[in-house]
Amino acid sequence: MILCANPLAQNTSYLDEIQKAVSSVIHSNRYILGPEVEALESEFASYIGTKFSIGVANGTDALEIALRALGIGPGAEVITVSHTAVATVAAIEAVGADPVLVDVDPKYFTLDPTQLESVYSPKTKAVIAVHLYGQSADLDSIQRFCKEKGIFLIEDTSQAHGAKWNGKRLGSIGDIGCYSCYPTKNLGAIGDGGLITTSDPSLAAKMKMLREYGWKDRYISEFAGRNSRLDELQAAILRVKLRHLNTDNGKRKTIASIYDGELSKLNLKTPVKHNVAEHVYHLYVIQLESREKMISHLKEANIFPGVHYPMPIHLQPAYIGKIKTSTSMKVTENLSKTVLSLPMYPELPLDDVKKVVTSVRSFFN
Ligand SMILES: Cc1ncc(COP(=O)(O)O)c(C=O)c1O
Repeated sequence: MILCANPLAQNTSYLDEIQKAVSSVIHSNRYILGPEVEALESEFASYIGTKFSIGVANGTDALEIALRALGIGPGAEVITVSHTAVATVAAIEAVGADPVLVDVDPKYFTLDPTQLESVYSPKTKAVIAVHLYGQSADLDSIQRFCKEKGIFLIEDTSQAHGAKWNGKRLGSIGDIGCYSCYPTKNLGAIGDGGLITTSDPSLAAKMKMLREYGWKDRYISEFAGRNSRLDELQAAILRVKLRHLNTDNGKRKTIASIYDGELSKLNLKTPVKHNVAEHVYHLYVIQLESREKMISHLKEANIFPGVHYPMPIHLQPAYIGKIKTSTSMKVTENLSKTVLSLPMYPELPLDDVKKVVTSVRSFFN
């Protein structure tokens, strides 16, 4: 069976290191927000190129805490995309702000910056740029827009740990970077986990307090916060994985270049790379009209691709008719019917990559 993602393969390939890390936490008698979290925060900040990093419970919380730290709440609007994990929108709603969704660029599938002006209003306080599938959104244009309007830029980097834009790691360019460490992510825990990055000391201090009831000193809340602590076990595991992140991203790139070479002449679209972006292929997403037939065809060969995402957020039952969008969401709506994520994870054997290629090609014969 060839799966779209396979965290077990990674966890077993680093099993010795992970077991040592876990055992050391068990014996440390420190289980929540201890030395492993502190070490991870400092290692991740230096890897991303920011002054600070803050460990939290998951990627949705990372976004929610970032928004709260920026003072965004009821009455504010936050612009983002509909072609993303629902978490991006859920976080905006969690702080009581209103999400405003724009269409994506047809080439790169990330936020189309030409749509921003048409949905901007005096209530707009931030843009969340989602770096989808492992590739950066067009940060030059989005950042220019945010600076012109005097609003904040949050990077949702949950799908692009280690990717770059103009030579800088994603999550170090906007005001705040937010990362999910869900097990299938490029930097994945064995459970839930999340990270936040920023170079602003006051934002960093506020986000640290927000993740634990607004405490500066234990048991004394300076403002209302919540519990979004990262535990020591997950932090220790993430430290192991962080050491291998560049190598693992390199393996993803090798697989992507095989797919690119073997599939580009078929009647489907392979991913397009921005020339100033370093893509880390969290997902390898092709686009084709006959997606459902292709899924059945691949399943017959025991290959299980994914669909990211089958329904745009603005059309989902929870949100339909309730969310402001740009006038046309044509690209987003078409993508939900045509995108297909081929198996992609660092440990995917090259023989399996060949099987996927053979099976995709045979569909067109
Ligand atoms: C783009 C994006 N944002 C946010 C999240 C939310 O992360 P989590 O599941 O860790 O809360 C995810 C994870 O699926 C994601 O892909």
